[in-house]
Amino acid sequence: MFSKTDMRAYWDSIGCRDDNEKQIAHQPTREGFLQSGVDNLPLIFPCGCESIPKGGTVVEIGCGKGRLVRVIAQKRRDVRVVGVDVSDRMVEMASEECKEWINTHFSVSDGTNLACLGTNTADIIYSFIVFQHMPRGAVRSTISDAARVLKPNGRLIFQVQERKEITQPDPPDTDYRSIRYYTSEMATALLSYPLSLTSTRGGGHNLFVEAQKSI
Ligand SMILES: C[S@@+](CC[C@H](N)C(=O)[O-])C[C@H]1O[C@@H](n2cnc3c(N)ncnc32)[C@H](O)[C@@H]1O
Repeated sequence: MFSKTDMRAYWDSIGCRDDNEKQIAHQPTREGFLQSGVDNLPLIFPCGCESIPKGGTVVEIGCGKGRLVRVIAQKRRDVRVVGVDVSDRMVEMASEECKEWINTHFSVSDGTNLACLGTNTADIIYSFIVFQHMPRGAVRSTISDAARVLKPNGRLIFQVQERKEITQPDPPDTDYRSIRYYTSEMATALLSYPLSLTSTRGGGHNLFVEAQKSI
């Protein structure tokens, strides 16, 4: 069984490293880190940030240092962009990184839910390169709570790493970093009422699942 305290402590320790940008996004330089946010966003929003409802609220689960939040906030000043992360240190750094964007907000979660956010408050919730590291039970409970936070017809978009077949046993639940792979069936099975699957796209390193809240 994983420990929420240890999960937070692990990611806090990553945030405290001098090379945290390399740890977060495999980017050894500041320029590369910032550019990677711009480059990765179309993977999550293939139709562009214009697909975010006008004046809406977007939430990132596992926002890290705000690498993606800042790009959305800059492109869409009318949108409220909320970053949630299990690590206090990540949230502290994201708040500092995004301080010039007044449409950004950050909260710390316990790593298993989005209790820091209100019911029916988000138009879109997304997650990128986060669920792949999380114990499967924590992914399931987080997605279930995302359904509560989404507005009716709100959209959930998340990435996992895909394998056609899972042949290796999972890393222990107390390992907060190693990759947990998903088949496409396993990834879509993470959804339950009131979330219904709208599409899967990509694959390999970036399998995306999209769902809509049906009420
Ligand atoms: C590889 S980084 C990616 C950060 C960000 N999504 C990005 O693309 O720049 C993974 C992030 O997920 C956060 N994280 C890990 N487990 C989490 C959990 N159970 N709930 C929320 N955030 C989590 C970590 O603290 C870290 O900031």
